[in-house]
Amino acid sequence: MSDRPTLSTSDRESTRDPYTSLAALRDQAPLSRVVVDGLPVWLVTRYDEAVRILSDPRMSNDGLRYAGPEAHTVAWTGVTTAGVQAHLLRVDPPDHTRLRRLVSKVFTPRRVAALEPRIRTTARELIAALPAGDARADLLAAYAGPLPVEVIAELFGVPTPRLGEFRYWTDRYAGASESEGELQAEASRRLATILGDLIRRRREELADATLDVEHEGTLLDGLIKARDHDDRLDERELITMAFLLLATGYETTVNLIANGLLVLMSAPGRLARLVADPGLVPVAIEEILRVESPVKTVTPRYATEDIQVGDALIAAGDAVLVHHGAVNRDPAKFADADVYDLQHSGSHLAFGHGVHYCLGAPLARLEARVALEELLAARPHMELAVPVDIIEWRHSRIIRGVRALPVRLGRAS
Ligand code: HEM
Repeated sequence: MSDRPTLSTSDRESTRDPYTSLAALRDQAPLSRVVVDGLPVWLVTRYDEAVRILSDPRMSNDGLRYAGPEAHTVAWTGVTTAGVQAHLLRVDPPDHTRLRRLVSKVFTPRRVAALEPRIRTTARELIAALPAGDARADLLAAYAGPLPVEVIAELFGVPTPRLGEFRYWTDRYAGASESEGELQAEASRRLATILGDLIRRRREELADATLDVEHEGTLLDGLIKARDHDDRLDERELITMAFLLLATGYETTVNLIANGLLVLMSAPGRLARLVADPGLVPVAIEEILRVESPVKTVTPRYATEDIQVGDALIAAGDAVLVHHGAVNRDPAKFADADVYDLQHSGSHLAFGHGVHYCLGAPLARLEARVALEELLAARPHMELAVPVDIIEWRHSRIIRGVRALPVRLGRAS
């Protein structure tokens, strides 16, 4: 293993610019045998191979398929799911098909679209709380951070008295770095308790109710009532599903909004163009997802048999990891791939591909659109308060996101 190149996600340079070393790997081969943060994997850096790997049914999401040391499996499957059983991202068809079908019945485009007024109101409240005049503010703490947690609380119907607690632990859960396993485990226990209480209460309240799960009640109500023929989620599965939606839906969206604002303020004219033509915001969001993918890597795939991909022979039990940030900058797929350019088509892999394609993509897009529309309308002259290369990035294998987003707000519109 020691002859493999190593890739760190936690030193300052590679968090500031992960792309240069990934491009060097990509130039050599579509898949490279590397050690990422001490864990040996095949890292996929080219677009076409990422699509192949993510659509190959011989590639499993089940950590038990991994042939490496148990310590690695624990590291991969992570403290993030402490106390929570196997969920969508960790299971293969047919179990995956069953769980995904149940949640898809409830997490419908219609239910997502219905959240728009609430998202807009929350965005406006956060904007109203920003300092007046041309002051400095950290838009991660003051805007991008708080917005998604309110949306998730709304989705779940977290009652007002528990909102403070819910916000606090969601924030601790997401804010804990991967080395702060204890804090994250504590936060995930607290959140599982809050969600468990909520589910039990709503279950009793809804016991005799019939619910059109596509249209009525909160997402959580829908999950409680969802049925697929005789199938439904049991209580443990419900908590796991709710927890997964929280874990996957929060930080990712925070960082889509924050990365978006950063990308727009990092070069002259980008923000002004959207201010002049807000209709371009959805296209800009796709380009932000491509050029600063908020999720760098997520769940490894484990080969269930020997698989040849180009020159690479992936042995049964090997771990394979797609780097979404790297494949989205593959020059074989996108001309001038490192450059933000609204001409690039939206076919990025920021939300993954195949059966595990992000379930929350419509919600993430909606939140980011409303967040940008509202802030750009209110603060069209904002600009970064520090040079872009001074911005500090989080040390994370999973998330591409800043530690703070200092801006000068400019005069209000
Ligand atoms: C899956 C990215 C927002 C829920 C995924 C995957 C990616 C991803 C790359 C695939 C993982 C894999 O194949 O191993 C993102 C990004 C987001 C975002 C970049 C925001 C910018 C959300 C939101 C939710 C969500 C808002 C829900 C509220 C999920 C779930 C899965 C998933 C449940 C697992 C689906 C499955 O295994 O079938 N996401 N996500 N995501 N995402 Fe998202």
